[in-house]
Amino acid sequence: MTRTYNWGILAPGNIASKFVAELQGIQSAKVLAVGSRDLIRAKEFAATWQIERCYGSYEELVADPDIDIVYIASPHAFHATHTKLCLKHKKAVLCEKAFALNLSDVSEMIETARQERVFLMEAFMTPHQPSYREARKILDSGLMGEIKHLNGWFGFNKSPYDSNGRLFNPALGGGAMLDIGLYPLFDALWFLGQPLKVEAFSDLTPQKIDQSVSVSMQFDGGKTAALFASFLAAVGVGTDIFCEKGALRLRRSSALNQSLEILLPGEDIRTLQWNETSCGLKLEAMEVMNCLNENRLESTIMSHQNSIQLSENLDLVLKKAGINYFL
Ligand SMILES: NC(=O)c1ccc[n+]([C@@H]2O[C@H](COP(=O)([O-])OP(=O)(O)OC[C@H]3O[C@@H](n4cnc5c(N)ncnc54)[C@H](OP(=O)(O)O)[C@@H]3O)[C@@H](O)[C@H]2O)c1
Repeated sequence: MTRTYNWGILAPGNIASKFVAELQGIQSAKVLAVGSRDLIRAKEFAATWQIERCYGSYEELVADPDIDIVYIASPHAFHATHTKLCLKHKKAVLCEKAFALNLSDVSEMIETARQERVFLMEAFMTPHQPSYREARKILDSGLMGEIKHLNGWFGFNKSPYDSNGRLFNPALGGGAMLDIGLYPLFDALWFLGQPLKVEAFSDLTPQKIDQSVSVSMQFDGGKTAALFASFLAAVGVGTDIFCEKGALRLRRSSALNQSLEILLPGEDIRTLQWNETSCGLKLEAMEVMNCLNENRLESTIMSHQNSIQLSENLDLVLKKAGINYFL
């Protein structure tokens, strides 16, 4: 018999609404409670989504003994604190990206999960998405030969500049690299492995965080990657993988619509298209519950090592790009 898991929502902002909408379509999940820093906001969110219990602090949420899993959707700067709070109350955690501001915090979160023997996963949708899983399968089959170069980007035009908003405020962990640049960075690591060299250049805001960032990476065997993330350029999301025998083009026209083009010289372009009803949050939630059903403390799709490697390379990129959240 499938078990039903009670979920708690910590920090009911934009993405939390999308998450709850997706969770409510899963039979084995029940959104039991929501916790906000403000009881009125918790009550409003609970009324919108018909959630039984609401709390005016995160501490009260994690003290609810009936909650099995907490979804953390606060700004980046608080993920480490909120994750440790949940883990110490023995709640399994699915925490939004970026997992934390630096490797030191990510390592502490993972160490706490191991000590408390509680499940922890970063809510990072890429490795759950069908287009990425198909690309991986094609590359592993040898059809394209070896990868020689990867070009990844994520950009939108976030004007006007709002120094207090989550995307630009350094106190909330704002900045293009942490918010969206980590997607092309993940792609480079996922397809090419650990880089030998990383260089990065940024265009900084008056508050000294990146509104655009460009990254160059070198890997074993002469392989390279070029990444770009920006709040100034409406370039969408894409990754091109150049290989010995052809190329793969991954595109996301929206969170729901993904495509994978396979380009081989002398052949028609083959296009695979996915028009999903879920933007990936549902897949992440399902993975958490599958792991708990099997008494696993981490996912193999988005493992602790995936988060450590991502954070380690983010540290390096931020340093090279002249971004420091701790000045
Ligand atoms: N996976 C995805 O596709 C995706 C998409 C968008 C965002 N995200 C991630 O989700 C997280 C939240 O993003 P969002 O766009 O949902 O943000 P948001 O709308 O600003 O919501 C964040 C929530 O965090 C809480 N919070 C706690 N401390 C705060 C503080 N000092 N200042 C402001 N808010 C604070 C607030 O809720 P209360 O005050 O009511 O508790 C707020 O509603 C980020 O880590 C972001 O990267 C992921």
